[in-house]
Amino acid sequence: MALDIDYKPVVEKWPMTKDPLAAIKEFRKWHLWLRWLRPAHRKASKYYYNQRAEWIGKTDFEDYFENADRSINKEKWEYLRLRKSWYQMPLNWEKFCGEDCTTILDLGCGDGDLTQTLVDFICNEFKRTGKGHKIHIVGSDLSPSRIGNAQKHVTSTDDRVTMEFQVDDATKPLPFDDKHFDYSLNSGVFEILADESADKFAGELCRLTKYGIYTEDLADEYPGGFPRQDLNCLFNPHGFKVTRKAEVLTEPWSTKINPKPCGIWPMLLDQNVWCEPQ
Ligand SMILES: C[S@@+](CC[C@H](N)C(=O)[O-])C[C@H]1O[C@@H](n2cnc3c(N)ncnc32)[C@H](O)[C@@H]1O
Repeated sequence: MALDIDYKPVVEKWPMTKDPLAAIKEFRKWHLWLRWLRPAHRKASKYYYNQRAEWIGKTDFEDYFENADRSINKEKWEYLRLRKSWYQMPLNWEKFCGEDCTTILDLGCGDGDLTQTLVDFICNEFKRTGKGHKIHIVGSDLSPSRIGNAQKHVTSTDDRVTMEFQVDDATKPLPFDDKHFDYSLNSGVFEILADESADKFAGELCRLTKYGIYTEDLADEYPGGFPRQDLNCLFNPHGFKVTRKAEVLTEPWSTKINPKPCGIWPMLLDQNVWCEPQ
């Protein structure tokens, strides 16, 4: 289904454009039940679950993530980035701007949209505070096509904030020494990995990170997904523990209509988590 561009002005008015942590403030557990009273949510859920169930029945995941052609134009990329910034929030991100941070890894960076949000966050902080230093960000993903999108679309407005993107399978060792990166982040990766791969991915993330890890991940059941309510189950065996967690929904509760890229996302439970060495 093509992107319905009329949704963009709706998303531009969502509260995260004024308060990036708005999703945390408005989250209520009972919204998880109340959402089923909304016809828009029921319709989107039915469509999403059916479509996913059909898709996973005929898809070889490993082949898909590695080889699918996922090229995306800038307009759609920007729209998705804005849409996701509701629930991919800068939780503890001030640490990414601190003096102890010179290298950051975005593991499973996909199209680099969260990498862009991170670059913008750091550049804006440097501008706001009048301070700043060199920070290099590496985005890594299994998909050459997605890495191509990131290389094409991600930009920095501050020469001190640089980035590069590379193809890696993070269930195997990446070509960096232990604790090469001061901080790292990952979004939407654990939710697509079964336990064995998720454990290897978490192990590599923890091996490469010195101080702290930001994770965004779905916590709702969906066909073909691997939601985990407590990500300590992945981090503890590798010496890290969750020190902050926020549950959110993937769109604002108050939205009258249900803007959804490509018509696929209902209102889902999501989590933003910060981890540090145990
Ligand atoms: C749902 S996407 C999320 C992408 C991006 N972080 C975002 O927030 O849009 C999951 C990503 O994990 C990547 N991935 C899956 N298995 C991987 C692996 N073994 N190593 C590195 N990346 C992997 C996929 O290629 C895909 O880009």
